[in-house]
Amino acid sequence: MPFVEPIHFDILPDVLAALLPWYRMESEERELPWRADVSPYHTWVSEIMLQQTRAAAVIPYYERFLAVLPDIASLAACPEDELMKLWQGLGYYSRARNLQKGARLVCAEYGGKLPADYAKLQSIPGIGSYTAGAIASIAFGLPQPAVDGNMLRVLTRALAWSSDVLAAKTRTTLTRSLAPLYPAGRDAGDLNQAFMDLGATVCLPHGMPHCARCPLARLCLAHAQGTEQNYPKKKSKAKRRIETLTVLKLYAGRAFAIQKRPQKGLLAGLWELPHLPGTLSEPAVREELARRGLRAETIAPLPPAKHIFSHVEWHMTAYEVHLNTDALRLAEAPAGGLRFITPEQAAQKYSIPSAFQYFLQETP
Ligand code: ADE
Repeated sequence: MPFVEPIHFDILPDVLAALLPWYRMESEERELPWRADVSPYHTWVSEIMLQQTRAAAVIPYYERFLAVLPDIASLAACPEDELMKLWQGLGYYSRARNLQKGARLVCAEYGGKLPADYAKLQSIPGIGSYTAGAIASIAFGLPQPAVDGNMLRVLTRALAWSSDVLAAKTRTTLTRSLAPLYPAGRDAGDLNQAFMDLGATVCLPHGMPHCARCPLARLCLAHAQGTEQNYPKKKSKAKRRIETLTVLKLYAGRAFAIQKRPQKGLLAGLWELPHLPGTLSEPAVREELARRGLRAETIAPLPPAKHIFSHVEWHMTAYEVHLNTDALRLAEAPAGGLRFITPEQAAQKYSIPSAFQYFLQETP
């Protein structure tokens, strides 16, 4: 029989008991708008925004979003471009689309109210097990753990548990072990948020965790062994694919060209600067433009930029091009899918994703 080290799930009740009083004291110092005014919709919006994004960065987006879309019905009815504009800068735009799909489903199937049910919540687009746990506990007081990266880090350290945190099994094992120990009512949401806060401020992912001020230090098995930094264990992920592209800031007078991305895939349906595949030289750009019936008066390089998505990296060469506007006017179908907009329109009306923001600062 192989020797399997026991995992000390027996310390979990003590972990939960130590966390709640710590959170009650600490939370007074961390004033977050979604904690001040709790409702199922508010928790839903905040949890979606907080995926992959720090709380401090989310706050202004959250407030602006709710000022424009105060309830599920208004979110369901929001025009796409307006929704994308509200999300601009947060990235991972499919979160916003799924949020709206979810709002439409909630209006159609649940009379415009989120169901107070962990399983039903997970059937709504964009709501996975973590978000369902967060909404169930924070907004409905259901005894449900919400296992996110913070909780995984805190608990794999506390348990000195070598399970791969990227594996679904680690998450489901923790959820199953914690659920029977969870209290109902306000304590449920507070416990989940205590894990989030501990992970964000004490049990840090990079560098040394602040064990001297951790309420779990006397229980933490990794701390006892001095091995905090060995957890969480992660099997290495596949490397990101690198794509090279040549981005064009095509000016016609003061206006510059944008185009809509395809409705499927990365940054689906958003407005972008036109670009060509590969790293092109100035003459090659001039030639490609000519083939599309666009005549360049001047072409000047812009500083190159790199943008990192979860699975892809864009390595971008860029040029500022001033088009011959007479030729543009005379050409039969000069602009293809291009739309020329002023910098003011870009700022007010169009959601151009962060990947292109490097090139929007320049003025002609
Ligand atoms: N990250 C995810 N959810 C959060 C919450 N409710 N409070 C603070 N940070 C969070």
